[in-house]
Amino acid sequence: MKLKADAWLFGAGILGIAGVLFLPLPWGDRSLPWFERLTPASLVSFLAWLLAAGGFWAFKTRFWPNDAQAGRQLRNAILLMVLHAVLLRATVELMAAYGAGRWPWLPGDAWVWMPWFVVPGLTGILLGGRLGVLASLIGGLMLYLLANPGPWPVVGCIVSPLAGILLMRRSPTRNRVLRAGAGSGALLGVVAAIEYGLKGQAVDAVAAAVLLPAVIGFFSAFVVLAILPVLEWMLGELSDVTLIEYGTDHPLLDQLREEAPGTWHHSVNVADLAEKAAAEIGARALFCKASALYHDIGKLKEPALFAENSGAGSPHHQLDPLTSAQKIKEHVTYGLELARKHRLPRAFQNIIAEHHGVSLVRFFYAKACEPRPDGTKPEVDRAAFCYPGPPPSTRESGIVALADAIEAASRSVPLKSEGEMRALVRKLIADRISEGELAACPLTLADVARIETAFVVWLKGRNHLRPAYPEATVSAGSLAERTATGS
Ligand SMILES: [Fe+2]
Ligand SMILES: [Fe+2]
Repeated sequence: MKLKADAWLFGAGILGIAGVLFLPLPWGDRSLPWFERLTPASLVSFLAWLLAAGGFWAFKTRFWPNDAQAGRQLRNAILLMVLHAVLLRATVELMAAYGAGRWPWLPGDAWVWMPWFVVPGLTGILLGGRLGVLASLIGGLMLYLLANPGPWPVVGCIVSPLAGILLMRRSPTRNRVLRAGAGSGALLGVVAAIEYGLKGQAVDAVAAAVLLPAVIGFFSAFVVLAILPVLEWMLGELSDVTLIEYGTDHPLLDQLREEAPGTWHHSVNVADLAEKAAAEIGARALFCKASALYHDIGKLKEPALFAENSGAGSPHHQLDPLTSAQKIKEHVTYGLELARKHRLPRAFQNIIAEHHGVSLVRFFYAKACEPRPDGTKPEVDRAAFCYPGPPPSTRESGIVALADAIEAASRSVPLKSEGEMRALVRKLIADRISEGELAACPLTLADVARIETAFVVWLKGRNHLRPAYPEATVSAGSLAERTATGS
C-alpha cells in the first residue's frame, strides 16, 4: 500500500517536473497551436528525463529507508525538485526574453552562470547532505536537458552547489550558510572564467562572468535563510538551525530544570546518549539530541511521582499498583498535551508518544501480581499496565527509546565493569526486541550492534572512577582548595 503511494507520488513528481521543463509556455508564441510548438528536441529531452527517472526510482528502492520519516522526505525532496525546475525554467525564459544583449559588458549566455545553490542548499539543510548532493546532480541534468548550454555550465551547475553543501556539511548555522553561498558562487565564477578564457573572450566579459555568479551566490544565501523557516513550516521538516534553537532554549526546558531537576538531568543524559548512538549509525544525531530533551516533559504534571525527583518519599506508598501505573503512564499523554499546547514540532511529539512504545510498567505490574496475604494469586489485566504507544516508528525514535531505557536502568544497578555495562545494555535491547517494541522501526541488526557499543562507551565515560584520594591528606582546607581548582 505504502509502496503504491510512493510510486504515485514519484510518478506525479517526475511528470510535473517534465511539464515544467519541456512543455511550451501557454502564454508564449501563439502563432502556432500549443501542441505544435512541441519541438523534437523537447520530446527527446522528455524521454531522456523519463529514462533518468527510472534510474532514480531504482536508487530510491535500493537505498531509501522504509519508514514514515523517509516517506515524508521523499515527498519533500520531490517538491523541492519541482521548485528547482520552476526556477531553472523561469531563469531561462526571462533571460532569453529580456537579458540577452541588454548590457554590452555581459555575455548573452551569462544566465547559465546563475548560482543554482538555492534549491540544493535548501535540500541539504532540510533533508540532509546526501539528498543535497542528489539534488545538485539532478539540477545539472535538468539544466542540460532543458537548454543544453554546453559542458562547462552543466559542470558549474553541479559542482557549485556541491561545494556549498560541503561547506555547511555539519550543523549549517547562519554563518555557514552565508559562507556556503559565497563559496558556491565563487566556484561557479571560476568555472565560468575557465570557459570564457578558453574561448578567448575579452577581459571585461571574463571579469563580468566571474563577478556575476560570485555576487549572486552570496545573495542567494540570504534567499536560503529567508525562505528556510517558511519551507520548514510548509514541509514539516526541521533544519539544524531550528534544532539547535530547540536544544538550547525553550520555556519547557526551563520549567523542567526548575520543577523536575531529576527528570531534567535524566533527559540531558538521554539526549547525549541518543546523539552518540545516532551519530554511530548515520541517523540524525542533532534531532535525537534536541527531541530527547523533551521526551519526558509530561512528568511536569506531578514530578514527585517519578523516582528521579521524589527520592525516598515516594507518593506511590499510598497508592495501589494499578493507580500508580496509570499515573506513570499519564506522563506520555500529558507530555503530548503540553507539546501540542507549546506547538512543538510533530516529529518531537512522535518521540514523546513512542518513547515507551507499548511496553509494560514493570515495577507496578510485578507488584500487582504479588500473591495476596492468603496465598491466592490476584487476577491482573496486563493491558492496563501497558503504555498507550505506538512503538517507535523511525530509527531516531528507536534510538531515543533505547537510550531512555538504558539511562534509567543504569541508575538502578551499580555498574562496576565494562562487562556488567555490556550485559545490562544487551539485556535491555534484547528485551525490547523480543517484546516486538522495535518491530515497526527500521533499525537493522547491524545498527543495533553499533548502538550497543556506543551505549557501553557512553556508560564507561559516565561511570568512570577516579583514584581514591589518600585519607590522610584530605582535610577541609585541601578539599576546598581542590574544589576551587576543579581538580
Ligand atoms: Fe518516559
Ligand atoms: Fe525518560
